[in-house]
Amino acid sequence: MVVSLMVPLDEDAWRKILDRVGETGADGVELNFGCPHGMAERGMGSAVGQVPEYVGQITQWVKKHSDLPCIVKLTPNITDIRQPALAAKQGGADAVSMINTINSITSVNLDAMCPEPMIDGLGTHGGYCGPAVKPIAMNMVAEVARWEKTAGIPISAIGGISTWRDAAEFMALGAGNAQVCTAAMTYGFRIVKEMCSGMSQWMDEKGYTKTSDFIGMATPRVTDWQHLNLDYVTKAEIDQDLCISCGRCFAACEDTSHQAIAMSEDRTFTVKDDECVACNLCVNVCPVEGCITMRRLEPGETDLRTGMTIPAEDDKRTWLEHPNNPMGDPLTCISRGQ
Ligand SMILES: Cc1cc2nc3c(=O)[nH]c(=O)nc-3n(C[C@H](O)[C@H](O)[C@H](O)COP(=O)(O)O)c2cc1C
Ligand code: SF4
Ligand code: SF4
Repeated sequence: MVVSLMVPLDEDAWRKILDRVGETGADGVELNFGCPHGMAERGMGSAVGQVPEYVGQITQWVKKHSDLPCIVKLTPNITDIRQPALAAKQGGADAVSMINTINSITSVNLDAMCPEPMIDGLGTHGGYCGPAVKPIAMNMVAEVARWEKTAGIPISAIGGISTWRDAAEFMALGAGNAQVCTAAMTYGFRIVKEMCSGMSQWMDEKGYTKTSDFIGMATPRVTDWQHLNLDYVTKAEIDQDLCISCGRCFAACEDTSHQAIAMSEDRTFTVKDDECVACNLCVNVCPVEGCITMRRLEPGETDLRTGMTIPAEDDKRTWLEHPNNPMGDPLTCISRGQ
């Protein structure tokens, strides 16, 4: 049992509550530095999580006044999640957990002209959670897992986890375990049992005997944009046997991408290789699974859009070396040193 705590920024108040938690026989504490409403206004929750100095200070107090393992729960309502994570680590935290909820207004009542839910004619922001926040949470987990200053601190992942696959994805990015809130609220605790059996089956299929066999396996494959291979050129390809001529790819590419799909009078759709920039939009809008795929150009092939020849694998270039970089000299690139 891990006890979640939210206490004002006062050492004595933390000491007192930690004494009481110690008496319960709890296995650990999680410091809630993420609650975005009600508590933040009283100087707790995200009001603490947004100030790395406070995060570090309170973590130190907790480690001083308690022997229990201490997880610091971070708020996503901050520009760079790595800074409070670093402060937690420096303060002596045994682990960090992320994310708490994201400040949000989910709807406006257009008759009352008021955000919902309405409280006596007024509304305020709420905390966004559930499947929509998973991509944001995964990025934050990856940021903390791969930054050299925070790498290695155990991470407990939270944010939109509803299936075993969600949990496995977070764990592949570096989280040691996963927490479930919205899905349990929606479907009940039983969903966690289903997640456990799903993950166990997947692990058997993959030959993993323990979660540490795959935790963090995807972390080294997360990089910054400037390190991607710019010579990795792909073109959309339409399988004419699968195409149902709905025209969605044409509308999407014509109106909002690169006008790279041609439509003939008999509604045959073909990709113009000299225009396609590989944005993948058509793949996403096509309703037929596998109908549009992206084909990688092989070394020696010419990209008809740019006229450039794809170099051999060993000669591939990132943004730092590629002639498309307007900064030219990689030493002057804004990304220098990253
Ligand atoms: C109704 C509700 C109440 C919550 N209360 C707390 C809380 O008391 N302490 C806390 O640390 N997080 C609280 N959270 C945040 C969740 O623990 C979790 O961090 C967040 O909802 C994201 O995970 P999810 O997408 O699985 O819900 C609450 C979330 C919801 C939806
Ligand atoms: S990948 Fe993008 S640019 Fe290429 S055809 Fe599809 S939508 Fe058009
Ligand atoms: S979206 Fe898919 S099915 Fe529809 S026309 Fe394009 S390729 Fe064919």
